[in-house]
Amino acid sequence: MPLVTSTEMFKKAYEGGYAIGAFNVNNMEIIQGITEAAMEENAPLILQVSSGARNYAKHVYLMKLIEAAIEDTGLPICVHLDHGDTFELCKSCIDGGFTSVMIDGSHHSFEDNIALTKQVVDYAHAKGVVVEGELGRLAGIEDAVNVSAADASYTDPAQVEEFVTRTGVDSLAIAIGTSHGAYKFKPGQKPQLRFDILEEVSKRLPGFPIVLHGASSVIPEYVKIINENGGKMPDAIGIPEDMLRKAASMAVCKINIDSDLRLAMTASIRQYFNEHPDHFDPRQYLKPARANIKSLVKHKIVDVLGCNGKA
Ligand code: G3H
Ligand code: 13P
Ligand code: ZN
Repeated sequence: MPLVTSTEMFKKAYEGGYAIGAFNVNNMEIIQGITEAAMEENAPLILQVSSGARNYAKHVYLMKLIEAAIEDTGLPICVHLDHGDTFELCKSCIDGGFTSVMIDGSHHSFEDNIALTKQVVDYAHAKGVVVEGELGRLAGIEDAVNVSAADASYTDPAQVEEFVTRTGVDSLAIAIGTSHGAYKFKPGQKPQLRFDILEEVSKRLPGFPIVLHGASSVIPEYVKIINENGGKMPDAIGIPEDMLRKAASMAVCKINIDSDLRLAMTASIRQYFNEHPDHFDPRQYLKPARANIKSLVKHKIVDVLGCNGKA
């Protein structure tokens, strides 16, 4: 089974009322935990690499690890650039074997976003690679950008047809109230998503796959374990899982998850060291961390995304 694009995955997900998980990867244990979970649940999979991940692990290492995961699991896997911010970065990932890239022009004006996105689409499509664009601006922290809540803005449904037609993108990330990182809502604030915007976007783009970024639930159990084992995380509120299930049943075909993976790994490692303060072999603490990632991803696939059995 070679690397695949997300085209078939999204078509089936749209028709079936479920979503594909797009999980961020940074090292071998994360890739193994995710892919073993997907294999056991027979789920299609998107592994996504941010520019921070690429700087951390190097493109070639991540690519070879993903190729190894494909050989090991036999799964259809799409490898995707998360939040590409320049044409050059997208080009480098396309030339380096990625099957999907995101060009995130959401920080630019509408016209500049269209011009940049179209430039990437033209290059990508000529090489059989698919492209995700973004309209609207999510709050929160990514590696290179920190968007304050005041600078975040919901997607304007009136712009989506023009954006998709003029750029030729294959999927569209929209802003409906999710945000990046562990602190998505203020303490005491009730999580809310603008499903009316999602509904309006999908009416204007029938059958077109929509992407939800910033979709970690910030699972409270992990935050609790972190804080019980020497951590000092303030109250963190994520996206409730019933909202993600609802989005998956609508036009959302790709749901991005990174923070929950980080929390699962950190909770496990903190707990391990608290219980075994004299241990120092990385395999000892990375083994339960990898297992925790695996059980988290199984939970997401089966209980949230609904893509089990769809590979
Ligand atoms: O949306 C951002 C992802 O969580 C990737 O985060 O840029 O720190 O690797 P990163
Ligand atoms: P979270 O921070 O909610 O996991 O979002 C990840 C993401 O959107 C990656 O692009
Ligand atoms: Zn994102």
